[in-house]
Amino acid sequence: IVDKTSLLKSIDQLRKSKNAIILAHYYQEPEIQDIADFVGDSLALAQWATKTDADIIVLCGVHFMGETAKILSPQKRVFVPDLDAGCSLADSCPADEFADFIENNPGHTVVSYVNTTAAVKALTDVVVTSTNAKQIVDSFPQDEKMIFGPDKNLGDYINKITGRDMLLWDGACHVHEQFSLEKILDLKKEYPDALLLAHPECKKYILEVADHVGSTSSLLKFTKQSDSKQFIVATESGILHQMKKESPEKQFIPAPPEDPTCACNDCFYMKMNTLEKLYLCLKNETPEIFVDENIRLKAVKPIERMLEISA
Ligand code: 13P
Ligand code: SF4
Repeated sequence: IVDKTSLLKSIDQLRKSKNAIILAHYYQEPEIQDIADFVGDSLALAQWATKTDADIIVLCGVHFMGETAKILSPQKRVFVPDLDAGCSLADSCPADEFADFIENNPGHTVVSYVNTTAAVKALTDVVVTSTNAKQIVDSFPQDEKMIFGPDKNLGDYINKITGRDMLLWDGACHVHEQFSLEKILDLKKEYPDALLLAHPECKKYILEVADHVGSTSSLLKFTKQSDSKQFIVATESGILHQMKKESPEKQFIPAPPEDPTCACNDCFYMKMNTLEKLYLCLKNETPEIFVDENIRLKAVKPIERMLEISA
């Protein structure tokens, strides 16, 4: 199938005939977001995986998102259009090294960001997303000794806003670490009324000058509710699609990266999923996500704990 209209029609027919649901993250290509049954942040995608009665979930996002859906709903078949859609942040935290870190710091509650492999979640006491990280950390006594992994920028930000001193794993996301403070400040001079929105995976010096820091869903909500007409957006470019759809009269300017020649506002992994791969995935029922049952049984507990606290 070559033309987009027939591709969209076929995806729709397959989804109906196979009782499949298409869940998409805000960083997906606009055409994938538009055909999805639901578009959301990583918390909302996990919540959907538990409440849908579809037999098949096609998770248009990255591998850990598909894995989280499978861990929560093992009776469903979960597919990701491109199995190579990984995550540099999840890659920055190999499970064996994280296990050593935990062992070297006994007596700590282990908090892991959802951007991790199932094996890391299996070592974890409670999972968080950027939407509920503050709420979940706040639910522990102030003097609780805690480890936070793998994103050091999010961890440092949560330490700051909760008044904690969690031990941080030294991991980061290649998309969120590349924004240029100097160029953002130049843009703010050019657009003096524009507000700077930043995902908490950005570096500390970007978060310090941001007008609003939050998860993808939080940034989107802010743009809808704010009276401001212009925003500089320091996160992956896919979110601009929903921002423009929700507020067509407003202007959204992607925050500039250090290297002007790179396409680094796009998450290379998120953008591996295409409409054609989505179609093939529904048609051929591959590539499928599988999680070792021993790991799944350990990993499901901290994810369910997160869902309970943030319900
Ligand atoms: P959200 O949980 O804010 O959707 O972020 C997911 C992510 O991968 C950020 O890079
Ligand atoms: Fe992972 Fe960064 Fe891509 Fe998010 S934007 S999926 S953290 S690599």
